[in-house]
Amino acid sequence: MDKKSNFLIRRIHSLLAIIPIGIFLLFHLSLNTTVFWGSANYEAVINFMKTMPLVWALELIIIFIPLLVHAVYGIWIVYVAKNNVLDYKYGANWAFYLQRITALITVVFLVFHVYLQRFMVHEAADVISGLTGYLQNPLFFALYALGLLAAVYHFCNGLFTFLISWGITIGDHSQKICRGISLVLFVVMGVWGVGILTAIAGF
Ligand code: HEM
Repeated sequence: MDKKSNFLIRRIHSLLAIIPIGIFLLFHLSLNTTVFWGSANYEAVINFMKTMPLVWALELIIIFIPLLVHAVYGIWIVYVAKNNVLDYKYGANWAFYLQRITALITVVFLVFHVYLQRFMVHEAADVISGLTGYLQNPLFFALYALGLLAAVYHFCNGLFTFLISWGITIGDHSQKICRGISLVLFVVMGVWGVGILTAIAGF
């Protein structure tokens, strides 16, 4: 691949991670936050989303295709990238390495997540009781939370590298501030996501 098309596909890969994938992640967590208002409200919101006209087309265009493009090219990046964390143990190298590890964990987590929602909880009387049953198993909960935290870390650290890739944060000072913000965001979104899982497990 020549340099110009490599640059372009990197830019597309990077942009898709924020628009629409990152925005969808925030929307998805917000929607699931309704679980804190009780299982009946949660169930009503989920059912409303499911019955929206053309929801499958929206899912395909806004989530599935962008995610597939980002994931496939991302796996290629992981495969060809030089993971130098073992040579230089600086924070930035660990973040670089973790970005790639969490990318691979996110692939496994997302495939399982979709399979769980589409096929496994389908047998239960309603979505919530199906999920609660699985999440009450401590091993299941731990692995599921790990997958969620990996995806959230990948997004938050990715937001930091996105700002560098697009030339928005150029100097050391602005990059340091954004690294701090991305870590705080990781903690906030991590607590938020695991809080949702805990609430579902508690029903
Ligand atoms: C499904 C599997 C996924 C794979 C294999 C994957 C892979 C990758 C890789 C390898 C990078 C680093 C690119 C680089 O250093 O140039 C990256 C960056 C990124 N990813 Fe993912 N990713 C996945 C899912 C996601 C998801 C679900 C999100 C958001 C919710 C996301 C958001 C980001 C962001 C924001 C960046 C930073 C882009 C940049 O630095 O310009 N990724 N991804």
